[in-house]
Amino acid sequence: MGLPMRISRREFVMRVGQAGGFGAAFLAMQQLGLMPLAEAAPRLDTAPGAGSGVRVAILGAGIAGLVAAYEMKALGYECTVLEARTRPGGRSWTVRGGDSVQLIDGTTQTCAWSAGQYQNFGPARLPSAHTTILGYCRKLGVPMEVEINTNRSTRLENPAVGQGQPVEQRQVVNDARGHVSELLAKCIQKGALDAELTSQDRDRMLSFLRIYGPLDKVYQYTGSERSGFTTLPGAGDQAGVLRKPIDMHTLLDENFWWAILFEEIFDMQATMFQPVGGMDRIAYALAEAVNGTDRRTIRYGAEVKEIRRTAGGVRVVYTERGAEKSLEADYCLCSLPLNLLRKIANDFSQPYRTVIEQCTYGNAYKIAWESRRFWEQDFNIYGGIEVVTTGPNVVWLPSGGLFGERGVLVSGYGFETEDSFALLSLNNKFAASRLTVERLHPGYGKELANPVYVPWAHVPFNEGSWIASYGSGQSAYIDDAVDPGYELLLQPDGPIYFVGEHVSHVRAWQEGAALSALRAVQMIGARERAKRA
Ligand code: ALA
Repeated sequence: MGLPMRISRREFVMRVGQAGGFGAAFLAMQQLGLMPLAEAAPRLDTAPGAGSGVRVAILGAGIAGLVAAYEMKALGYECTVLEARTRPGGRSWTVRGGDSVQLIDGTTQTCAWSAGQYQNFGPARLPSAHTTILGYCRKLGVPMEVEINTNRSTRLENPAVGQGQPVEQRQVVNDARGHVSELLAKCIQKGALDAELTSQDRDRMLSFLRIYGPLDKVYQYTGSERSGFTTLPGAGDQAGVLRKPIDMHTLLDENFWWAILFEEIFDMQATMFQPVGGMDRIAYALAEAVNGTDRRTIRYGAEVKEIRRTAGGVRVVYTERGAEKSLEADYCLCSLPLNLLRKIANDFSQPYRTVIEQCTYGNAYKIAWESRRFWEQDFNIYGGIEVVTTGPNVVWLPSGGLFGERGVLVSGYGFETEDSFALLSLNNKFAASRLTVERLHPGYGKELANPVYVPWAHVPFNEGSWIASYGSGQSAYIDDAVDPGYELLLQPDGPIYFVGEHVSHVRAWQEGAALSALRAVQMIGARERAKRA
């Protein structure tokens, strides 16, 4: 996937994103070296009791707000968390049967899934490298299980291949590797790499390619059991029959690329995890730890209306059950999405107001359905992600409840902008989502029931999925240039500290939210120490 010289890297990433969805965009960004990979957890060196007598207003009980409250309470700060919703977690939202999904346009869906079924409409996976959020899971005893992000048995459907007959990921991955190995072996044998390799290394490379391909004695790729069988090996005289390789011309269709390389993205690599029973278990565990003793720290149903500066700190005006209230504090940790701050009267200084005014958020959505687990029972597919190349392009199979009778799958996880998806009526969105499953598993689309659609751009108290840009016109995911908007948010506006995934290099992940909160706690600790010194 060469980078055409006449378009900018940003445009390139955006185009890949439009064609292949979020997965392709993530992949392209990492390929270009644009996306930072991980951020080390800051060590809190603030002493217990350091916060005594210091009042903190924390806006939002999502992961950032909860982590801040958890740590600051332990340090003795007097914390109050204002949360507009009646639950903790923010975007870490698990929907179950009976739950209602209300959108800002007034539409309401009531989830009709059976008991025990759920979907994580926000974050739904945790890579091993996200040690901060996993550390809270460990500390708080949140039961965890493996999230199956990759599965060689999952299907890929591409109209350019076999009249659109789906193929298994193992075929595409291993046949591509076999063909590339054969070509490389040919180059070496023809002497095309003589300048690059010593004669000893040529031999060693050819031996490697025999295994890596795998190639036959004359260095040809003729297929491999890695790509699977048309008849599985069995007992007696039932020898396995290998599949014929998919030809290289077909595999060079770029629609295949992101699907088979997605799992190589650092944050997508096994082992990935999820809490048993729903991602919101983390937020509930944090909220319980924060609210456990006094049940007063987190105020649910508290909608922030004004964020004001005072001589000594901040005053936050909010409504609770219709009544207007106000909260005075020395510091404010504001985790509210930047786009929502536009609607809240505030005393932010002008540079912050400009970022808040001009930043943009993504419009990711998911559609989920309950179904018999036909993918497990009839196709031997247990978890993982399936891909089609037109329409809602991702089917994400459940990792929990394996071997159960029913499960909830996602059919459609992408940005609303793809394929003009946003323009479709709700029923047509559901039809497109069902068609995706039908393309992958012909005859099975009809088994899907009770769809739920969560478009984050239309979810109250979010109106966006995750930060897209800090207002400079540059994508938040292009990190090779300093983004002045991001740099600004790293510094407090007086007593107000910004936290959330958007104040980290681990954007669109709970890890980033948690790290940003720890960083702010650390900064406030240092400021208090300096004040008292
Ligand atoms: N972090 C988000 C995901 O895993 C974007 O899909």
